[in-house]
Amino acid sequence: MDSDAEFNSLEPADWQIVGRIPQSSNNALLIENSGIQGVYKSVRGERPLWDFPSETLTKREMQAFLIDRHFGFNLIPSTIWIETDELGPGIIQRFIPNAQSSDVRLIGEDVDAQDWITVVKGEIDEEEIFLQHTTYEDVFHAAVFDALINNSDRKAGHLLRDATKKLWLIDHGVSFHIEDKLRTILWGWIGDHIPGSLHETLQESLKNSEWRNSWLLNEQELEAFESRIKMLLVQGMPEPNSNWPSLPSPIY
Ligand SMILES: Nc1ncnc2c1ncn2[C@@H]1O[C@H](COP(=O)(O)OP(=O)(O)O)[C@@H](O)[C@H]1O
Ligand SMILES: [Mg+2]
Repeated sequence: MDSDAEFNSLEPADWQIVGRIPQSSNNALLIENSGIQGVYKSVRGERPLWDFPSETLTKREMQAFLIDRHFGFNLIPSTIWIETDELGPGIIQRFIPNAQSSDVRLIGEDVDAQDWITVVKGEIDEEEIFLQHTTYEDVFHAAVFDALINNSDRKAGHLLRDATKKLWLIDHGVSFHIEDKLRTILWGWIGDHIPGSLHETLQESLKNSEWRNSWLLNEQELEAFESRIKMLLVQGMPEPNSNWPSLPSPIY
């Protein structure tokens, strides 16, 4: 059984709350079922935001997972929608233990290091500082994925590597807005074309579009998603929107 199937097969009523996740701005809880740990985010626990309709963040997280699997990225931990007596509507995502965030760094020198690219140069206390991220293929896929879902909060801490160094992406509640709100630390490929098989996958998704029937987004959001697929196919990786902050705050 693959990892998603295993996660899906857990009895929904058997999830037990283990504790709160203190860093969470949306009241996420750590939960457990048959020795498997998950992160539970409920619709009720969502913190309201000025620019996203209320009670939609959890749905956006679920939609991000479905898109991840539909396009074959396989970067988001298994995620399910839950609605039981104990746990009100929301999502449960497989918890990645001992995760490290090692693909973004701030350094004092713009060294031309292999596998790293500088995306921003700044100053702290009159000292130059450079924001860099790695250029591995899986990180490029994360950047493409974020451009597709219009991720408005790709922080360094949302790119996790597990003990095997596999990359996992978390926290996609502020995605799929109809306006261009791409805000990320992964700006290393602006203007680059989408290569070979990934280009084909995007092309194919316009024909085989089961994602269009999603109940998790509204019609306009689904249309905006389709426009972004087309934009990526023709123009390649987007540049920052000059009317919107391009970097998350904080970066980590
Ligand atoms: N699937 C996961 N695996 C491991 N840690 C996670 C996972 N999801 C969330 N976390 C941890 O919980 C914290 C809060 O989660 P996040 O998705 O940022 O929630 P919020 O919606 O509150 O911003 C993250 O910073 C991370 O430390
Ligand atoms: Mg968060």
